[in-house]
Amino acid sequence: PLSRRRCLQALALGGLAQRARAQARVTIRLSHVVARQTPKGLALERFGELVRARSQGRIDVVVYPNSLLFGDADEMQALQLGAVDMLAPSLSKFGRIGFPEFELFDLPFLFETREQVYRAMQGALGQALLAGLARQRMVGLGYLDNGFKHMSANRPLLAPHHFAGLRMRVQGSRVIAHQMRALGARPVVLDFGETRRALAMGVVDGTENPISNFWTQRMHEVQTHLSLTHHGYLGYAVVVHQRFWANLAGPDRQLVAAALEEALAWGNAIARSENEQALATLRESGGIHIHAPSAAQRQQLRAATAAVYQGLERRIGRQWLDQVQHDRS
Ligand code: LMR
Repeated sequence: PLSRRRCLQALALGGLAQRARAQARVTIRLSHVVARQTPKGLALERFGELVRARSQGRIDVVVYPNSLLFGDADEMQALQLGAVDMLAPSLSKFGRIGFPEFELFDLPFLFETREQVYRAMQGALGQALLAGLARQRMVGLGYLDNGFKHMSANRPLLAPHHFAGLRMRVQGSRVIAHQMRALGARPVVLDFGETRRALAMGVVDGTENPISNFWTQRMHEVQTHLSLTHHGYLGYAVVVHQRFWANLAGPDRQLVAAALEEALAWGNAIARSENEQALATLRESGGIHIHAPSAAQRQQLRAATAAVYQGLERRIGRQWLDQVQHDRS
């Protein structure tokens, strides 16, 4: 058995090691795929500013926007390997790495308002989704909003028959792919970073985006029509690897978590105005035709995509759909 003296020595050394760790310089590498001037880009920059200020520059956050470091196809693997420390992928991108229940948020016409989305994210469902990330040794630190998606192409997309035969770029979500097929289009999974070029070259005919992404990628230069369908939601989960999180000293982990919580709340507050501002600028630019479907057309789109719900239910089970429908109301 250890003597009392040895125990005290060990405790003192442990304390010293912790203090040394707490004072060590830390760099957090954060990669994402959209422009800086988007709700996500701005919120993550703000996170970096808060962390630097509160640690007196000891903890740095280096943000790589615009798929500069990693794109959709490789960022999750990079996190697993420790090549990057923090990501904020859209919820649609967790399905293909083993979390199909995240695709609930992709269901067409599930949410009409942001308040419904927030209730689902902040309720039991949202917490269960983040907790489940431990299956792949990830820690979900919070959600970030980018609002509702709309359809674009070189023609108006207001009713199901307008989609016939179009190749539509989608994120790697089976729910979104099913939605496009249900509308009569052909889904093409592409990295976000390749989308604008694919539209410009005619590799795909159209896509879906919140306005902030559409505008900051200058997609209006390669698409002639934007239809304000408001048919689906786009949000993000901020994630780190358990190894990275465990290696931070306790006080640093607290500092980072608090700064992130504050930056995400700020980001969620500006997401609406950033998207509204982007739409106003897009209208003023006059370079694209902007349409809004009638209530009857939206109803047709909704009816045409109803089977997507059963498809997801078969994959993840009825209880998840019940939960999201319960939490949003
Ligand atoms: C997309 O791939 O369309 C979005 O997930 C991009 C993003 O991060 O907003």
